[in-house]
Amino acid sequence: MIFLDLGLQPFANEYPKNTKDKEKKYRLLIDFNKKNGVISIKKKFQSNKIFKKDYPYRSSISKTMKESFRKLSNKIKHKFRKNKILEIGCNDGVFLKNFNRKNSLGIEPCSNIAKLSKRKGINVLTEYWTYNLSSKIKRKYGKFNIIFSANTITHIQNLDEVFKAINNILDDDGILIIQDPSLLELIKNNAYDQFYNEHIYVFSYLSLSKILDKHNLKILDLENIKDHGGSIRYYIKKNNDKNKLSTSVLKQKKLEIKNGLNKLETFIKFKKRVENSKKKFVNLLKKIKSDNKKIIGYGATAKAVTVLNYCKISSKYVDYFFDTTPEKQNKFMPGVKIPIKKYKKLKRKFVDFAFLGAWNFKEEIFFKENNYIKDKGKFISHIPFPKIIP
Ligand code: TMP
Repeated sequence: MIFLDLGLQPFANEYPKNTKDKEKKYRLLIDFNKKNGVISIKKKFQSNKIFKKDYPYRSSISKTMKESFRKLSNKIKHKFRKNKILEIGCNDGVFLKNFNRKNSLGIEPCSNIAKLSKRKGINVLTEYWTYNLSSKIKRKYGKFNIIFSANTITHIQNLDEVFKAINNILDDDGILIIQDPSLLELIKNNAYDQFYNEHIYVFSYLSLSKILDKHNLKILDLENIKDHGGSIRYYIKKNNDKNKLSTSVLKQKKLEIKNGLNKLETFIKFKKRVENSKKKFVNLLKKIKSDNKKIIGYGATAKAVTVLNYCKISSKYVDYFFDTTPEKQNKFMPGVKIPIKKYKKLKRKFVDFAFLGAWNFKEEIFFKENNYIKDKGKFISHIPFPKIIP
């Protein structure tokens, strides 16, 4: 059942080099599956249409993410003695660089990004995650005690194949750790910008546990973490009567039911809040511009692409974006074609308001821009509702 229409959207991580570049567009409709509660985008794209040799996203680009993966690595090393580890979607090696190179293997289909991992000495296969690949890996490397995947599984259309392939090479006593944005946090924050062509699914505990059931996999523990504006890290094992559920699992289940994540009406109410958010956001930008103030964007994120295209915000409102990623600089925001420039520290002499495209790194950004804030520089965020900060 479709409950939300976010309009005509371009591919989020394909940054045009020129304003005249032609872009592929698709209608971003969001679906609630009444049977299993899975939330997904209606039009699903194959991985090879998106994750290619010039993919611009680097996980190491923020201190926050580096720190989060370092902490998790330490935890894994302490908790699990055997750690022959496989990572699905290892990006630039931000997580695997913390492990012994001999006992770890990364999968990363984007060759430009895989190269960054390889430069760190990590063993990487430049491949898409498929059942065939898992068999090839099993023949060469055997099974793994730990399989990790962050913000990747939800990007792959065929979840049955994903988990069948995982089952194929996970030790019977091994652990699967996955983390992805939390549907409950998305709903609470009105974070409709978590939806774009790459985020095919947004999991809740309720929906993921149903998908895993089919594959004889069980969530035994979970943690709510701050990553990407609120995610859940799930600890999953092959189903076995001896495995005990942690209280955090039961707590999350209760919370999600209490917040109606299994009911269509919850998403219909969410849709109304999203439409209100759009109105408020556009009015806020109009008001600021009518006062002759200058607005720029901070963080040329895929999320911002959804917001700008849904709200139809062009360079009439936001002059340009700053981003620290070299692959994004001197290009344009997809669809709305707002220029992206190399980041420099914010100064009141060239900006009055900065729209937080990377709202999920708000704390890191505010810390970095404390002089701008002291000089009465302002930010704009649409999360949880459009407002000026501070
Ligand atoms: P994400 O929200 O999809 O992880 O993307 C974050 C983007 O924001 C990425 O392109 C890097 C950019 N960024 C900055 O430009 N400055 C910053 O201080 C931070 C934390 C991120």
